[in-house]
Amino acid sequence: MALIVSTPKLVTVFGGSGFVGRHIVRTLAKRGYRVRVACRRPDLAGHLQPLGNVGQIQPIQANLRYRWTIERALEGADYAINCVGILHESGRQRFSSVQSFGAQAIAEVCRANGISMTQISAIGADADSRSDYARSKAAGAAAVLEAVPDAVILRPSIIFGPEDSFFNRFAEMARFSPVLPLIGGGKTKFQPVYVADVAEAAARAADGTLAGGTSYDLGGPEVLSFRECMERMLEVIERKRWLVSVPWPLARMKASVLELLPNPLLTRDQLLQLAVDNVVSEAAIREGRTLEGLGIRPQSLQAILPTYLWRFRRAGQYTTGSVTS
Ligand SMILES: NC(=O)c1ccc[n+]([C@@H]2O[C@H](COP(=O)([O-])OP(=O)(O)OC[C@H]3O[C@@H](n4cnc5c(N)ncnc54)[C@H](OP(=O)(O)O)[C@@H]3O)[C@@H](O)[C@H]2O)c1
Repeated sequence: MALIVSTPKLVTVFGGSGFVGRHIVRTLAKRGYRVRVACRRPDLAGHLQPLGNVGQIQPIQANLRYRWTIERALEGADYAINCVGILHESGRQRFSSVQSFGAQAIAEVCRANGISMTQISAIGADADSRSDYARSKAAGAAAVLEAVPDAVILRPSIIFGPEDSFFNRFAEMARFSPVLPLIGGGKTKFQPVYVADVAEAAARAADGTLAGGTSYDLGGPEVLSFRECMERMLEVIERKRWLVSVPWPLARMKASVLELLPNPLLTRDQLLQLAVDNVVSEAAIREGRTLEGLGIRPQSLQAILPTYLWRFRRAGQYTTGSVTS
């Protein structure tokens, strides 16, 4: 009797070398999937291979601005996950070319090959927003659903985890600066969500256990203002800092200068996003289109932040337990 061994499904993860992508890649690899990671610089994606068995994770060059590279990345794939996103524009990396047309191009190639997909969008994605980022994310998700009606759209709030660029960035700033800025008074509300919870939702989409053609709002267990996020971070790194309110007009002036730098700390487009609360919608809660609705219990900041922010404490991992200046 012949023994038939089926080959594990192949998932192409666009942007799999980034912060969210690498956690999705790891979660998929743990489930036994073969994973192809498509990004512009596969030579810089060597950190991914140890997340799976030998040969299980393969980086490949792809740029969403060139359709033929998308076609090549999806050759023989069973599923696609798009985690490509940019926070600011630079050179030919425009919000429209990467987040709208890039997502659309992936979806059209998926449709042509009978592949389904998940699109990582954002809670802030909004076709009517004044922010170019938010509008391009909304356009990307709409184009994906048009081409692949059974696609899954995941819309996370701000995402935290070991390599995040939010808590790490402000904790780094707190090491040197006696003050931390609270833009617009720090009143904007967020629902920080743990990166592994987002990755679990994406992996379940690849498993086929999420309803297709549906958008899920992914938030953590707590809604916190920007000020409260900073207070939580300072508590964990055991430092006292002044939280100074920066009025919107002054923030806009600062951003217009900062955005001239290569990797800007703040842009005027980000200020437009910061002006709007970033929390799970009432409709998503009512309809169960949330992590809890998927049966995933979201991890709290309190449980996770100390596991990676300890390096910003004065005594590093040798905690003193007391807040220092
Ligand atoms: N982080 C958050 O708090 C957050 C919150 C809500 C939603 N999201 C969404 O989650 C997704 C992932 O975010 P992230 O924080 O993981 O971003 P990230 O760390 O900056 O990763 C972005 C990834 O996209 C790749 N990439 C960039 N431009 C590309 C292009 N033209 N073609 C192909 N690949 C390209 C990058 O690799 P190369 O540079 O090598 O190409 C990298 O792998 C994004 O869609 C973002 O909008 C993030």
